[in-house]
Amino acid sequence: MESSKGRPVWRGEVKQVGTITVTDDTTGKTVKLPLLEGETGPRAIDVRKLYAETGYFTFDPGFTSTASCESAITYIDGDEGILLHRGYAIQDLAENCDYLEVCHLLLRGELPNPQQKEEFERTITYHTMVHEQLSRFYSGFRRDAHPMAVMCGVTGALSAFYHDSTDILDPRQRMIAAHRLIAKMPTMAAMAYKYSVGQPFMYPRNDLSYAENFLYMTFGTPCETWKVDPVLARAMDKIFILHADHEQNASTSTVRLAGSSHANPFACIASGIAALWGPAHGGANEAVLLMLEEIGSVERIPEFIKRAKDKNDPFRLMGFGHRVYKNYDPRAKIMRQTCYEVLDVLGIKDEPHLAIAMELEKIALEDPYFVEKKLYPNVDFYSGIILKAMGFPTSMFTVLFALARTVGWISQWQEMIEDPQQKIGRPRQLYTGNPGRPFVPLNKRG
Ligand code: CMC
Repeated sequence: MESSKGRPVWRGEVKQVGTITVTDDTTGKTVKLPLLEGETGPRAIDVRKLYAETGYFTFDPGFTSTASCESAITYIDGDEGILLHRGYAIQDLAENCDYLEVCHLLLRGELPNPQQKEEFERTITYHTMVHEQLSRFYSGFRRDAHPMAVMCGVTGALSAFYHDSTDILDPRQRMIAAHRLIAKMPTMAAMAYKYSVGQPFMYPRNDLSYAENFLYMTFGTPCETWKVDPVLARAMDKIFILHADHEQNASTSTVRLAGSSHANPFACIASGIAALWGPAHGGANEAVLLMLEEIGSVERIPEFIKRAKDKNDPFRLMGFGHRVYKNYDPRAKIMRQTCYEVLDVLGIKDEPHLAIAMELEKIALEDPYFVEKKLYPNVDFYSGIILKAMGFPTSMFTVLFALARTVGWISQWQEMIEDPQQKIGRPRQLYTGNPGRPFVPLNKRG
């Protein structure tokens, strides 16, 4: 793959650094497996030929010890709380770039120079309108439909409109599909909001930045000239950056798996949106705010901490814990700072949810249960407070996550399609059903 500067995207190599020998203690049979090393991060045992050579599978439900692909896009060191996109620290990107620069970085492998930035912005801006017929889809939904349900539907429906970018074997069509998805997602998300409140859809404006345009399409109305507060637009942009990509999480893996069958990109992204919706993943930002509302006051925090620690109670502290981070999620730190800035510019003092969140964080970070299990606040812990302050209803929180993650999904999808090792994803299982029995005719079944 080439960056838009015409030189290859920086991509390190996976090297074999040795072998590892596995012995079956029941038979004494041994097998030597290659030991692989990427640019950085843990080594991996290459089990690709294991079944063919030994007849054994590996067993890893939840993929806690499995690398599913090679990727040069995002790196996470969960113990140190490090997140890099194409080698750049998330803190540097959030501080110094806008979201579209980060999109360029993820999708094309490099940060854009000024000319490339202008070109990329223009390309995205000129794809923001959706086919007029697509707007009819919205009226098929109930007004009280969850906007994530609407987003799953309309994103999947894009494949019915943009046939000229569904040939996944054509690099140009792949790139056009990527541009369309990044560009149209804010329009479709804002339309989902407008539909839910019964207001007219707002067409995108080409004179506004990506984040400004989204805020305008969401909160503007045709009746008045709507001014976007630059601090809020910057905060929105930063929230998009913080959600742009996160390695092989559940929704990204879903996109890759769907894409591995050569499904079209719009269908793949719709599958990612569906996976993101769950409260253990992107749905957590909505769940955090609902939890803070349920807690209601600082005095009730100990009761909820107790419940979170109780094995017999399904309640979990939403916005806490992460499969990979066993340290403070670096995105959560930036999000907390952004939260203060937004509340400040909006003149919101003594925000009750913020007070509960801060106290909850303090107590949880000192509690042995959370300390021992290395459960820290994640990206979703503070984002809901910011989004609520900006005027978004809770049901829109995960939609904003989906909007911002679209670039990550499509970049990972593209990387997968370009990977010569790409195969259809097809895991196996440890079968626990009946091993085989004689058929019983209906009249003989008791
Ligand atoms: N509250 C209470 N206990 C928890 C929590 C929590 N939020 N998270 C994990 N634990 C406990 C869990 O009960 C388990 O205990 P034990 O070992 O005694 O059985 C231990 O910590 C390990 O948890 P796990 O569920 O095995 O870990 P996982 O890696 O499978 O799950 C997680 C990660 C994010 C799903 C989980 O921490 C969780 O459900 N958190 C709350 C939901 C949330 O905030 N999700 C957003 C994740 S970040 C944004 C994103 O990527 O989407």
